[in-house]
Amino acid sequence: MKKFVRIISLVTVLALACMIFASCGKKSDLASVEEEGKLIMLTNAAFPPFEYLGENGETIGVDVEIAQKIAERLGVELEVVDMDFNGIVAALASGKGHIAAAGMTVSEERLKSVDFSVNYVTSAQYMIVPADNTTILTSADLKDKVVGVQEGTTGDLYASGEWDGDFGVKQVLRFSNAVEASTALMNGKCDLVIVDELPAKLIVAQNESVLKLVDTPLTLEDYAIAMRKGSDLSKIINEELQKMIDDGTVEDLILKHTAVQ
Ligand code: ARG
Repeated sequence: MKKFVRIISLVTVLALACMIFASCGKKSDLASVEEEGKLIMLTNAAFPPFEYLGENGETIGVDVEIAQKIAERLGVELEVVDMDFNGIVAALASGKGHIAAAGMTVSEERLKSVDFSVNYVTSAQYMIVPADNTTILTSADLKDKVVGVQEGTTGDLYASGEWDGDFGVKQVLRFSNAVEASTALMNGKCDLVIVDELPAKLIVAQNESVLKLVDTPLTLEDYAIAMRKGSDLSKIINEELQKMIDDGTVEDLILKHTAVQ
């Protein structure tokens, strides 16, 4: 009998511990934002016009201004954490920030670990090639090529054959940002770079004599803000974002941050 009681109490203690643990894990994001007095945004600030470093090393860009508006609505400060793009989804899921705003494409794979807001930008992957290239024109021309990408991006997935099928790429060279990938291209280390539309256009504009963009896009993608699964921030984020889409703010921000590059 005593043994039975001991087992029962052990089970009860374990059950209670589990419940406490689970409820900690499910702590409301809204409450945590209010408690901390700040909204923490994870990003990778090497992706103009969406996020890049300003003259004083501060992170600026379209996503930062969007998140700033959301923070204002929440009545808190915005804190931006600049990190490797490849680690953002895991960092968000494990509670290192409240949102990820990083020109991030909505994907099935990411939806397994995070939620997404409404889409705020339509984008696509583009190929950057040497200015004198005449042979790389479509995805079929990826065969046997060395492709430079930013690690963990949809461009990486595309080149690796995990987005739209296998194109028989010879090698994928992964860099921590698209500028590094493009530098490798200019140094002859790869045959082309695959990167999102607007960052690609800016990189080409800055290196016009040596690089050019292939006109045909490879994909069609939507950017959205990522949140933890089940986050109670989603209502406010979607409301603010939708307002900024409808009244043209998002478009204006894109023009503003493209012009300063
Ligand atoms: N849209 C691409 C993706 O979601 C690339 C995003 C890169 N963003 C950045 N801030 N570096 O994979």
